[in-house]
Amino acid sequence: MAEKPPVQRSVSGLRKALGSLRGRGAKVALVPTMGALHEGHLSLVRLAKKRAKRVVVSIFVNPAQFAPSEDFTSYPRSFADDVAALAALKIDLVWAPTADAMYPSGFATRIIPAGPADVGLEDAARPHFFPGVATVVGKLFLQVEPDFAVFGEKDYQQLKVVTRVAQDLDLALKVIGAPTIREPDGLAMSSRNAYLSAAERATAPTLYRVLEDSARKIKSGQLLADVMAVGRAKIEREGFRIDYFEARHAETLCPIAPSKKEPMRLLVAAKLGSTRLIDNVAV
Ligand code: PAJ
Repeated sequence: MAEKPPVQRSVSGLRKALGSLRGRGAKVALVPTMGALHEGHLSLVRLAKKRAKRVVVSIFVNPAQFAPSEDFTSYPRSFADDVAALAALKIDLVWAPTADAMYPSGFATRIIPAGPADVGLEDAARPHFFPGVATVVGKLFLQVEPDFAVFGEKDYQQLKVVTRVAQDLDLALKVIGAPTIREPDGLAMSSRNAYLSAAERATAPTLYRVLEDSARKIKSGQLLADVMAVGRAKIEREGFRIDYFEARHAETLCPIAPSKKEPMRLLVAAKLGSTRLIDNVAV
């Protein structure tokens, strides 16, 4: 069995461990996660290993990004399996702060992002989400001071938000986006897929099928509004409740001006039973 990477749980322990990792100027890449690792997460780790000699993976189920009504307590946790999977990839350090190390008593500072965090997508459905993500990711960046940080395109708006945060805070790191890893039937891998019943699991790949189909039609010159209306109807017919299904500017995430040729991304969030799924594709 591969040797387990060291696990740090306090900021002081992390700093000490990083000091020796960085010896002789080795580059460090950070992969932030909430654990329950699957192939999507592991693909980010593999990409991080290509960019930097040292790889740190953080595992922290961040209470600040869950609303009281959401699944913080039931969010899947599999720490021992996660560390074993990371050992097989030979990473250098697991940063798994306790809740108290991340948010000590008296904690009172938050990062409130705007720009791509204020465009009426995830931010509209989950107003607490990006302030929670930006605060914890800002802290992770400052704690680890990586040269690179890898995030998945699966959470496309999050990728744009954390890129903006790093830029706006003048952090000397490069945010790298990594492609979405999918199940063989197209469903984007997600820790929350575990919540789906067998029937819902069979329906779930509809989202990706509609995204791909819509992207193809838009590229072939069909009218955007028509394509989106047909796609929306198809998703609803399969029993999803849609939060949004939108064509947006791929960089700003603002609504697309119909006449302009702009880089476009299709993004969707929809509930199937009690499980909320998100996905997106390039056009
Ligand atoms: P989590 O949902 O655990 O995801 C961690 C990282 O894995 C994110 O960058 C996410 O986009 C990426 N990821 C998830 N599924 C993927 C897939 N199928 N293919 C490729 N990448 C995938 O996102 C978070 O945690 C949190 O919000 C976090 C950034 C850690 C802040 O708490």
